[in-house]
Amino acid sequence: MLGVCYYPEHWPEDLWREDARRMAELGITYVRIGEFSWSLIEPEEGRFDWAWLDRAVEVLGSHGLKIVMGTPTATPPKWLIDRNPNILPVDASGQVRGFGSRRHYSFSSKTYWAESRRIVEAFARHYGRNEAVAGWQTDNEYGCHNTVLSWGAEDLAAFHSWLRRRYQTPDALNDAWGNVFWSQEVRSFDEIALPNLAVTETNPAARLDFRRFASEQVADYDRMQVEILRKHSPGRFITHNFMGFFREFDHWAFDHLDLASWDSYPLGFVEQFPFSEAERERWALTSHPDIAAFHHDLYRGVGRGRFWVMEQQPGPVNWASWNPVPHPGMVRLWTWEAFAHGAEVVSYFRWRQAPFAQEQMHAGLNRPDRTLSPGGKEATQVARELESRGPLPDTQQAPVALVFDYEAAWITDIQPQGRDFSYGELAFRWYEGLRRLGLDIDIVPPGQPLQGYRAVVVPSLPHISEAALAAFQATEAPILFGPRSGSKTRHFAIPPELPPGPLQALLPLKVIQVASLRPGLSAAVRGKVQGSAERWREWVETALEPVARFSDGSPSLVEYGNRFYLAAWPAADLLRSTCQLVLGERAGLALSDLPEHIRLRRRGDVLFAFNYGPEAWSDAAGRIADGATVAPYDWVSSG
Ligand code: GAL
Repeated sequence: MLGVCYYPEHWPEDLWREDARRMAELGITYVRIGEFSWSLIEPEEGRFDWAWLDRAVEVLGSHGLKIVMGTPTATPPKWLIDRNPNILPVDASGQVRGFGSRRHYSFSSKTYWAESRRIVEAFARHYGRNEAVAGWQTDNEYGCHNTVLSWGAEDLAAFHSWLRRRYQTPDALNDAWGNVFWSQEVRSFDEIALPNLAVTETNPAARLDFRRFASEQVADYDRMQVEILRKHSPGRFITHNFMGFFREFDHWAFDHLDLASWDSYPLGFVEQFPFSEAERERWALTSHPDIAAFHHDLYRGVGRGRFWVMEQQPGPVNWASWNPVPHPGMVRLWTWEAFAHGAEVVSYFRWRQAPFAQEQMHAGLNRPDRTLSPGGKEATQVARELESRGPLPDTQQAPVALVFDYEAAWITDIQPQGRDFSYGELAFRWYEGLRRLGLDIDIVPPGQPLQGYRAVVVPSLPHISEAALAAFQATEAPILFGPRSGSKTRHFAIPPELPPGPLQALLPLKVIQVASLRPGLSAAVRGKVQGSAERWREWVETALEPVARFSDGSPSLVEYGNRFYLAAWPAADLLRSTCQLVLGERAGLALSDLPEHIRLRRRGDVLFAFNYGPEAWSDAAGRIADGATVAPYDWVSSG
C-alpha cells in the first residue's frame, strides 16, 4: 500500500479537502501527520488548541484515509526552550546547540523527559481512540543532525549514574577501562569527565561506554513514549522512522515497536556514502542498486519481519551536496524494490513541495502549484499497478544471514587504526558482493538464532558476546567471519588469548599482527580463493592448512569445520572468490553473476528483477519468464 507525509498546518484550510480527495483518488491509504506540530497544538504552556488538527483528521478520515499520527517531540517549541534552556543539546566542543531548526534537545534532559511525557500523553489521550488514527510514529528520526551524543552538564550527570549502576565501584571502572594508563584513575564516579575536550585521544573504553550509554538513552526515551501510547491508544501500531546509513545508536534495541520504518532517500545517500567518484557519477540519477535494498533488509530485521518506508524520496531533495532529479522511472522502481523486500507500505515524503522555509527545494508528489510532479505521476502508476496485481505473497526467510552490529561501528570509529576502515562501508560492500551473486539476504543482530540459514556472513564483529558465540556454535551452516572479528573484549581491550578471542572456540587460530594499508597498498591472495586485500590485513598463526595465503605465505583464509576466517579487508575480486567458495561450494547455494546494475529479489514465490542501468538485461537463466527482458530503469517479476 502507499502512504504520504502531509502537513495540513502548512496549507490554507480550504485546500485540505481537495488534498484528501486527490490522495484517495491517487490510491494513497496512509497519511502521516503531526510530527512537527507542537507549537500549534500547544501555543503556550498548558493551552492546547486541538481544533485545527481535529478538523484535519476529520477531513482525511472522511476520505477513507488512515492516519499515522506523529508525536511532536522532534520540535520543542520556543516557549518551552526559553523556559528550560537546559533542554538544549551541547556539541562536542562544549557549545550549546540553539533553537532555530529541530531536534534541539538532549536525551539526558530530565525536564525534556517530563515535557515529552506530558505532550505525548496529551496526544495519546486526544487521538488514541480516534477511528481515523491507525498507528503512531514516535518523534522523528532519532539521531538526525548528529543528536545522539550531547556533551553538557546533565549528560555528564546521567553518564555518571549509568556508570555507577554498571560498575558499582570506581576501582572496578578503573580496572575495566585500564585507567592506569596515563595516570587516569578516578577515586569517585564524579571525577569522570566526558570523553571530549582532552589534549589528545581519550580512553577508547570510556568512549565506547559513552556511546553505549547514549544509545540506551535513545531506546529508553522511545520506550517511554511507546508505553504512554499503548496505554491510551489500544489496537494501534507504533513505529519510528529510522534513517539510512545511521549507526549512532543500537537499532536492535527497538524490539518494543510493532514494526520498523525508515526514510529512503536513495539519491541523497549516494552523496553520503564513501563511494568512489566513478561510482557516484554512475549512480547519480538512479542510486546504487544496493542502497535502498540494504536498508530494507536491515529494517525488516529491526521490525522482526515488519517494516514500512515512511518517507520515500519522490524527486530531488534539498540536503545532499548535489540534488539531481531522479532518472524517469526510478521513483516507481524504488517503490517496487521496497515491496519486493517485504515493505508493507511505502509512504512518500511529501504530498506537496512547500514553497517556503528550509525544505522549499525538496520535491513532493505535487508541485507547489498543486499539480502532480513527475514523481507524483510515477506514484500514481505504482498505485494502478498495485491495484491490478493484487496482494503479494509473504516474505520468507532468506538463505543468507548477514550479522550486523552497531557496536562494531562504534569500536572501529573509535579506533579505526587506518583512516578508511569503516565498518558501515565494509558491511555494505559484503552485502553488495552477495547481491551481485543474486542472493537474498536477511540482516540480523549478533546473538539471533541462525537456524534455517544456509550460510552466515559476519563482515566484522570485534566484540563477541556470549549470545553471539552461542548462536554461531548452534548452526551447522558455513559461517564466514571477516577481519577484526573477536579483536576486542567488552571493555575495549585486546583479548588475553589474542583475536579472534572467543571465536577460537570455533576456529583454532590466533591473529598475531595487523596492518592497515594506505590507498595504493594491497596484498595479493592466492590459493583456493584469489584476489587482493586492501585497507587491512592480518597475520594469522594456525596449525591448519590455510585455504589461501598472502604472498609472504601467511594465511589469508582459514577454514575449520565449515567456519571461515578471512584475515583481510577483501577487494571486490577476493570477496567474490571467497563468497563463491563459502556460499557456492560449501553452502551449495545457486549463485548468479549479475551485472552491476541488475538485482534480483524473491518475495515468496515471486522473483523480481530490477534494472538500475541504461542497458536492457535479459535473464539467460530464464528465471523470471522465458526470454524476459528488463528494460532500462524498469523491473519485471515472475508472477
Ligand atoms: C527526513 C526528515 C523529514 C524531512 C526529510 C527531507 O530526514 O524526517 O522531516 O526533513 O528528511 O528529505
